[in-house]
Amino acid sequence: MANLILPPTWRIPERKATPEPLYFKAVNRRSCLKLFGAGVLLASGVLPGCTTHVSEEEFAKNPKNFDWSDFDREVYPATRYPEFVLDRPLTEEHIAAQYNNFYEFSEAKDDVWRRVGGFKSRPWTLEIKGLVNRPQQIDVDQLLRTMPLEERLYRHRCVEAWAMTVPWTGFPLKALIDKIEPLSGARYIRFTSFYSPNIAMGQRGYGPWPYTESLTMEEAINELTMLVTGIYGHPLPKQHGAPLRLVTPWKYGFKSIKSIVSIEFTAEPSSTFWNTLVPFEYGFVANVNPQIPHPRWSQATERMIGTNQRLPTLYLNGYEQWVGHLYT
Ligand code: MTE
Repeated sequence: MANLILPPTWRIPERKATPEPLYFKAVNRRSCLKLFGAGVLLASGVLPGCTTHVSEEEFAKNPKNFDWSDFDREVYPATRYPEFVLDRPLTEEHIAAQYNNFYEFSEAKDDVWRRVGGFKSRPWTLEIKGLVNRPQQIDVDQLLRTMPLEERLYRHRCVEAWAMTVPWTGFPLKALIDKIEPLSGARYIRFTSFYSPNIAMGQRGYGPWPYTESLTMEEAINELTMLVTGIYGHPLPKQHGAPLRLVTPWKYGFKSIKSIVSIEFTAEPSSTFWNTLVPFEYGFVANVNPQIPHPRWSQATERMIGTNQRLPTLYLNGYEQWVGHLYT
């Protein structure tokens, strides 16, 4: 499965590669060897608890792959918000669920859904910290009870030039921000994902783990920006970032951080995962823009997952009327 987001010199040819060149500079030779050993065990299925293999038949019978809570049964499906209409058909659920970027679990998009079984996405606590009046730790189920859940149909565009259209369920990030009262000095928000290298094997490799992302406060309070808890009318399957992820549909997908454990309000921009790892390829802003090619490929068109249809890339992924004013 094509993996473009990492430069070729960073990738491991599976089974035969020496892991060293992939490693972030800080990782020493010893942990490289450990990873290689674990990789061999993993490939042979000897390392229990690190991965759960689900066969194609099992997945076809139960494509959900999520931890339900009792409350989920009450809230899904949420009412669809009519404002966001699509110019293309929705991607089929099983296609979206088997083509994921989630480097904590696998570099291969078609393998992530098989490797997330050991990951527990419930119970889950979200920490709110930094420059806010009301720092707190919130249980995600509790959060769902207090937020206005709705379904929205959004285009979803990866920097690798593939795209989907999916029905997300979640709430505007602004609804949460209003409750926690950021201080006047808060100009950016930093999002951090979980860190469990015993379950997420990818975190034993190149980093900087955990995965982080950041938005300006103006981007965060824009009505398009969602904290997402569900997809296709049910809770997020683990491979899509359960139990809580960000969605900023006018930006490349790598900004939409999955499985968030903390949200921190800061005065200055924070470092982010891809910008730290490959700074010459991935910027902070990362808005979808057909005119600005990636250093290794054009962004003029995109490939729809499932149909392989090629479509012209839309400036700001077609969301200029909502966010264009942020970038004039
Ligand atoms: N979040 C975490 N924690 N880890 C990741 O590897 N990949 C990003 C983003 N969020 C990623 C992440 C990238 S590159 C993309 S394109 C989207 O998730 C993919 O989301 P999807 O798999 O739900 O389509």
